[in-house]
Amino acid sequence: MNDIIEKLVSQNPLTHSEFVSLLDANSEALRDKLADDANTLREKVFGTDIYIRGLIEFTNYCKNDCYYCGIRAGNSNAVRYRLTVDDILLCCEKGYDLGFRTFVLQGGEDPYFNDEKMVDIVARIRDRFPDCAITLSLGERSRESYEKLFSAGADRYLLREETSDEQHYKKLHPDNMSFNNRMECLKNLKDIGYQTGCGFMVGSPYQTHEDLASDLYFIQEFRPHMVGIGPYITHADTPFANKNNGTLEDTLLLISILRLINPELLLPATTSLGTIHPLGRELGIKAGANVVMPNLSPVGVRKQYMLYDNKICTGDEAAECINCMDKRMEAIGYKVVTSRGDSPFID
Ligand code: 5AD
Ligand code: FES
Repeated sequence: MNDIIEKLVSQNPLTHSEFVSLLDANSEALRDKLADDANTLREKVFGTDIYIRGLIEFTNYCKNDCYYCGIRAGNSNAVRYRLTVDDILLCCEKGYDLGFRTFVLQGGEDPYFNDEKMVDIVARIRDRFPDCAITLSLGERSRESYEKLFSAGADRYLLREETSDEQHYKKLHPDNMSFNNRMECLKNLKDIGYQTGCGFMVGSPYQTHEDLASDLYFIQEFRPHMVGIGPYITHADTPFANKNNGTLEDTLLLISILRLINPELLLPATTSLGTIHPLGRELGIKAGANVVMPNLSPVGVRKQYMLYDNKICTGDEAAECINCMDKRMEAIGYKVVTSRGDSPFID
């Protein structure tokens, strides 16, 4: 085990089976050791700075039916909404005044937001907030669509692969969704020039350490700029309603490993991590994360963007969220900074 840790810490690539061994060995001692090493590396690149991203969940309509997701098309209990372009700009304005310099537009795969509409939204944000980064998280689209949005002014794109193992992918998604297309989308995004984020759920149903090792191996090769991970959390109105949640311990170990794979990675302590433990986000930062994503969505729709049960921060105004985050980060010795927080490396 020590030679594997040594390899990882000195930034030598690991084999798939070495990643599996590392995950099999998860213990408090291993987590502490890797968190220590991850922090040393992270502080060299980012100091104690924590980047903030303002998350705007602008539609919960989705044409897909992922078995794990609360806003899947098949969930007839979900109350659907779409924000207008004016609603979105208002969220950005509020966010800007609160110090946000990155806006993340996230939604289900909603055909209503075709290229024409999305390009208009991106162009208007770009025009009004020239000093801000625009991140999109809209799922799978064509290469041409990604290109148009990039030309309109989008800088970054988040598309989690969810799992890097095709057989596991098939257990999480219906037959009309394609693992290969998702991977193709990620390659296109990076190729076009987006700062690209991928990621996966920790402890999703049927996931094995081999599957997680495939994710780590994929990330080591693909070299994304960002990686979003968080525990899988069950949603009562999905086919996976009776499955177990992912664990805090697995997520924290994975955050440290990801930081060690790439010290310059943008790595959020996610809302789902804050949902499974009251101090989940703080623990995520201490394990090596360096980004938090407070919610800027209008309070009136927050509870409708329920990907999983008991999601936190659904009742607070944006100002409360950011104050809360400032305090939480300060309490553990970190500082929320107002900057675009771009990736320090461009491949
Ligand atoms: N638990 C945790 N994360 C989830 N996501 C979707 N459903 C769940 C769930 N039940 C994650 C997916 C998606 C991101 C926006 O939210 O990884 O890419
Ligand atoms: Fe919308 Fe999976 S349910 S993309």
